[in-house]
Amino acid sequence: MKHYSLEEIQGWSRFYRANFVNSLSGFKPVSLIGTTHKSGEFNLAIFSNIVHLGADPTLIGFINRPREAAPHTLANIEQNLFYTINHISPEYIDKAHQTSAKYPEGVSEFEMVGLTPEIKIDFKAPFVKESMVQYAMELVEVVSIKHNNTFLVVGKMIHAFVEPSYVGEDGFIDLVKAQSVVSLGLDGYGEATALQRFSYAKPDQPLTELGF
Ligand SMILES: Cc1cc2nc3c(=O)[nH]c(=O)nc-3n(C[C@H](O)[C@H](O)[C@H](O)COP(=O)(O)O)c2cc1C
Repeated sequence: MKHYSLEEIQGWSRFYRANFVNSLSGFKPVSLIGTTHKSGEFNLAIFSNIVHLGADPTLIGFINRPREAAPHTLANIEQNLFYTINHISPEYIDKAHQTSAKYPEGVSEFEMVGLTPEIKIDFKAPFVKESMVQYAMELVEVVSIKHNNTFLVVGKMIHAFVEPSYVGEDGFIDLVKAQSVVSLGLDGYGEATALQRFSYAKPDQPLTELGF
């Protein structure tokens, strides 16, 4: 294996370095975040830095880049407090990727890329109709990460929409069956392959294979 020193990495061009370091943390979940602008216009953008923060209450966070780089989703969430997170299926990864383009404020990426906004249960933000796993969030806290001017946007899950055939007897959601796409780096998308599920690990007991 080759050793890449920090000195060498810092000497690379911006794009080469960005591709390398954005792949290092591994495969990531990737979703479309749907929000509503104060004018009523919908906004949709792709995010892959999404993390589970706790089960009860169900807190899920995502990293928003500095405001000047990615302004609309964060501003809409701060104003409206409600937003949706929608998994992506393989058939429309190109449309999902296109939502990362810098469209002007108040322009709906749904219309620009050809995805369908879905309003239901009187929720104040749009879901993505084409998405097989959708959940609705209420803003809890925006944590400012001063070191690089990014934000950890923490929300509470308040509704979920999942096709029941993907939900196992123990509540496990088979996202391989749902074909939820994963992301790698800044622009790579892939599909997950099931390997195994295991019993709860204990120091004095061998694992049981549960199947997937
Ligand atoms: C695969 C992929 C993943 C991305 N993940 C993030 C992310 O986690 N956080 C972020 O701030 N921007 C992310 N972006 C960039 C945003 O999609 C982009 O800045 C978008 O224009 C933000 O839209 P907004 O200004 O409407 O919020 C990602 C882009 C791509 C292509």
